[in-house]
Amino acid sequence: MEVKATIVDLHSHLLPSLDDGPHSFEQSLQLAQQAWEDGTTTIACTPHCAEGTCPSQERLDESFAMLSKALPAAGLPDLHLISGAELMISPSLASFLERHPYLTYGGLGRYCLVELPLVDYPLYTGRVLFDLLVSGIQPILAHPERNARLQREPHLVRQFAERGILLQANAGSFLGHYGRMAERSAYEYLRRGWLSMIASDGHNGNSRPPLLSHALKAVGWTTPTPGLPHPFP
Ligand SMILES: [Fe+2]
Repeated sequence: MEVKATIVDLHSHLLPSLDDGPHSFEQSLQLAQQAWEDGTTTIACTPHCAEGTCPSQERLDESFAMLSKALPAAGLPDLHLISGAELMISPSLASFLERHPYLTYGGLGRYCLVELPLVDYPLYTGRVLFDLLVSGIQPILAHPERNARLQREPHLVRQFAERGILLQANAGSFLGHYGRMAERSAYEYLRRGWLSMIASDGHNGNSRPPLLSHALKAVGWTTPTPGLPHPFP
């Protein structure tokens, strides 16, 4: 029997009708199929979430359980899902997550995915990321290569990497899907060894697909999560 290597996509919008990802359960299954055929074996479901507007634990659990249960019947019995969220940075994110650990990966309160606005760079960004570290929740910063300030000031990204913030680049950034600046920044972080992982940030089957293989090939990685414990989290 062929044993598939664990290929983990730690950032995807796979759950239906929670954000700007798939609008239906059927679309979610199609994305799951697309990811599996591309070689992904584990997908973290990380819907957008901002403090005060996050889906309730009941809603998230129900959506996650429904999709997980439907995978075998859809021909994907070995595709594994991890729950989570993509959290918009906010001043009190660390204490918010301590009260709402279901928004961390697997609900374990150990790792979380944090995003910044694409254009703005909140003054409290560094403080909040380090607050999370101190509180025992390892932050993963989603697609820093897409933030306009970080594109201009890579020394900020270097500080994050050196101080233990994990950095996740989008697969599409290496393929030019987010423009030249994001592509250039992603390759710079890669070259300098700042990146901990590549994820799809998949939203739909066309413009933002849940695929990793092309980007991994482009950067010469054999896994999207080098150096992370397997299985994650
Ligand atoms: Fe995302």
